[in-house]
Amino acid sequence: MAKIRAGVVGCGAIGSEICKSIDSESGLGIELKLLIDKHPENIERLCKKLKNKPDIIKSDSTKLDETLTEVDLLIECASQAAVREFVIPALKQGKDAMILSVGALLCEPGLFEELESISKEKGCRVYIPSGAVAGIDGLKSGAVGGIQSVELRTRKPPSGFEGNEYVKEKGIDLSSIEREKTLFTGSAKEAVKYFPENVNVAASLSLAGIGSEATRVTIVADPSTMENVHEIKVRGEFGKLFVRVENVPSRANPKTSYLAALSAIATLKSISYPIRVGT
Ligand SMILES: NC(=O)c1ccc[n+]([C@@H]2O[C@H](COP(=O)([O-])OP(=O)(O)OC[C@H]3O[C@@H](n4cnc5c(N)ncnc54)[C@H](O)[C@@H]3O)[C@@H](O)[C@H]2O)c1
Repeated sequence: MAKIRAGVVGCGAIGSEICKSIDSESGLGIELKLLIDKHPENIERLCKKLKNKPDIIKSDSTKLDETLTEVDLLIECASQAAVREFVIPALKQGKDAMILSVGALLCEPGLFEELESISKEKGCRVYIPSGAVAGIDGLKSGAVGGIQSVELRTRKPPSGFEGNEYVKEKGIDLSSIEREKTLFTGSAKEAVKYFPENVNVAASLSLAGIGSEATRVTIVADPSTMENVHEIKVRGEFGKLFVRVENVPSRANPKTSYLAALSAIATLKSISYPIRVGT
């Protein structure tokens, strides 16, 4: 079977793990054809670690249409802006795409519907890995029978909120927090406005479940944890679900959970392997 020709946009924490996995796992059935990053030094750093260098290297979207003819699958792991800049043109050419910056689909009104309509028209697929959370499989299954509530409780060390404007406006002194303190409770739609660092998890849950207005989010600063902890509670016709993920940060980017990169690689495996386990 011919290998899937992949292009990766974003050579940071997630992109590097994906490319190293494609490079080392011949069983993945994927060939790395294209790398794009607005910082050429990031491409260079990554290429040094790869045995099989990609044929095409770019730092922006100029002449993107020509370049896209060389790939079957475009993997976005760069930024929210990159979804519009690279994924939309790829879909318009009938190419499949994977999106890691899933928060864009919550933050830019109409973007999800645009992706949906182009993919339907062109007969291509958009893959959104579970990212830094678990439980998306149960949430999707539960949604078929009907769901009453979805709650996300995210806990991080107080230092993880440094520089957050909402926390500053509320006059919360992060250095004086000695016991866990709730910083925010509200809808996922509001949460992503005030806590943009939480946007991807809130977006994945909203898309898989009952939408960003109905999904409830609580954000907690907890000096007793060193990790980003996500707890998800779902209630529906199926019963109840509770998932807790204690994420280890990626070594290359502490804002990103290592699990997010792994979930992208697992999605690539499921694309190229004929038997799919799990919902
Ligand atoms: N789905 C999830 O659960 C999840 C979890 C963690 C991170 N993410 C998202 O995945 C994306 C990548 O995360 P990361 O930790 O690898 O980030 P990173 O900062 O380590 O790397 C991003 C790379 O993309 C490049 N880049 C950014 N915008 C670009 C553009 N418009 N054109 C070309 N290159 C561009 C940067 O130069 C950088 O090299 C982010 O948007 C992040 O929010 C998603």
